[in-house]
Amino acid sequence: MRVGLLTGGGDVPGLNAAIRAVVKRGVGEYGHHIVGFRNGWKGVVDGDVVPLDRTHIRNVLPVGGTLLGTARFHPHAADGGLDAVLTTIENEHIDALICIGGDGTLHAASKIAEAGVKIVAIPKTIDNDVWGTDSSIGFDTAVTIATDAIDRLHTTAESHNRVMIVEVMGRSAGWIAATAGIAGGAELVLAPEQPFDIERVVRFLKHRHRSHASFSIMVVAEGAVPAEGSAMDYEMQLGQFGQIVAGGISERLKVEIEERTGFDTRVAVLGHIQRGGTPTAQDRILGSRFGVAAIDAVTRGETAVMTAVRGENVELVPLSEIAGKVKHVPTDMLEVARALA
Ligand code: F6P
Repeated sequence: MRVGLLTGGGDVPGLNAAIRAVVKRGVGEYGHHIVGFRNGWKGVVDGDVVPLDRTHIRNVLPVGGTLLGTARFHPHAADGGLDAVLTTIENEHIDALICIGGDGTLHAASKIAEAGVKIVAIPKTIDNDVWGTDSSIGFDTAVTIATDAIDRLHTTAESHNRVMIVEVMGRSAGWIAATAGIAGGAELVLAPEQPFDIERVVRFLKHRHRSHASFSIMVVAEGAVPAEGSAMDYEMQLGQFGQIVAGGISERLKVEIEERTGFDTRVAVLGHIQRGGTPTAQDRILGSRFGVAAIDAVTRGETAVMTAVRGENVELVPLSEIAGKVKHVPTDMLEVARALA
């Protein structure tokens, strides 16, 4: 069998563990030929192929990023993209494709599976918002990094009597904010799932600084939004001088908090640091389990599915079930974050 492999969307730690597992199991156990496409779906469209054997995966387990390269490129949205994918699959004699990605890559995978290509997908995203799986590759490392950052920022917040806003990734879901917020003992967690009211935020901070402590840590997901019709929502729509206000949500929050409380406030945007460096043991294990499950599924001829971890088990979920859905943080987890503030 000739199996194509690609990584698409943002890089995450643990991708190389999945690539290694596919190659080791595919070549060693089944005698398949594995080829990699460079830079995600773009490599499939361009026919940018590299052979993958054991020499390519030596010592990659602890290495972040992806040895195949990646890109944010959606073939179904590009002119002639889908046809180009089908042409490459035919020209390269690819029997099946394993694609590792987040929502964008998985959406492309389901479109291409509909066109008749045999595909098994593996979920990865630090945002942990892929529907159908308890966890995705990269999430655990991101939470570990964000928790460490919160621990470190605590000392400055406390020494300077400041409000420290820690902005974490998470456009549509607040998984990193909620979990790292709980693990780091944040006073406030703002996530996209629960639009916030700036007046309540300010009331909380004033009460805390009056009665308990003179510093606070707020963990804010990049996708956090003010509640519709709340004071900040109105101001963000209008902006200063009637313009949409530039800058992320954290910068806006800093201005509002300083104006309304007088508390010295700082912002730390963790950004791509959350996606960098060596993967945690959990992400190496998850990548390895998903890689083996994917090549096993391909070999059995079970395709148009995504590997998923559910409880203790790795299972296969039909791609058609996950497309277009977002896995949100459950209310009880946000409640834990709130209750322990
Ligand atoms: O989708 C994962 C993610 O890390 C998001 O949390 C973040 O908003 C986005 O990627 C950043 O994308 P890029 O690397 O393209 O700037």
